[in-house]
Amino acid sequence: SESKSTNIVWHQGTVERPQREILNRHRGFTIWFTGLSGSGKSTVSVALEERLHGMGCRTYRLDGDNVRSGLNRDLAFSPEDRIENIRRIGEVAKLFRDAGVINLTAFISPYRRDREMARALSSDNDFVEVYVDAPLDVCEQRDPKGLYKRARAGSIPNFTGISAPYEPPEEAEIHIRTGESSVDECVEQIVAYLLANDYIE
Ligand code: PPS
Repeated sequence: SESKSTNIVWHQGTVERPQREILNRHRGFTIWFTGLSGSGKSTVSVALEERLHGMGCRTYRLDGDNVRSGLNRDLAFSPEDRIENIRRIGEVAKLFRDAGVINLTAFISPYRRDREMARALSSDNDFVEVYVDAPLDVCEQRDPKGLYKRARAGSIPNFTGISAPYEPPEEAEIHIRTGESSVDECVEQIVAYLLANDYIE
């Protein structure tokens, strides 16, 4: 949507991203998880954050339920609200990159176009998309919050995978399969990618 903020001039500081990244001894970048409800985004991102923190990295996790209770409490689950949800998260992730922090986002982010928009706010290689892949029937079996059951019963409209779409990534940097791999295996798969591609040492 069009910007209503006009006559805005960016005010440059003397401490900028490069200085922060030197102090942190790593770059700031985004690890963007996407997948169905119950696919394991939160679980894997929590475990990955613990692993990275243990390696001395500065991390911050943005999670659907957390952000929706604060910053995005005005948004529900219509297509328009999801688009706005992801737009704001994309902007917040950009701020965290600028802070030199490794930020992990765990949102369904069902639309390919919105994920691409979030990616477009980053420079090359600052955005690592992780497709948290679990078949719908597996997610539905897990149903940790009982939401699928309620969605099937018709009491939750626009429920992703049931009555609202999910567009899987076609070119995610990392593809984890939580129905087949353990949480630890998924974390190691991501860490191996980050090491091999010089995101972390
Ligand atoms: S989105 O699509 O990216 O804007 O969604 P997100 O911000 O990640 O929020 C998803 C969590 O909200 C709960 N919830 C729903 N999910 C999907 N569809 C509908 N209609 C819905 N209503 C509530 C649900 O618990 C999601 O949590 P996760 O962690 O993904 O299971």
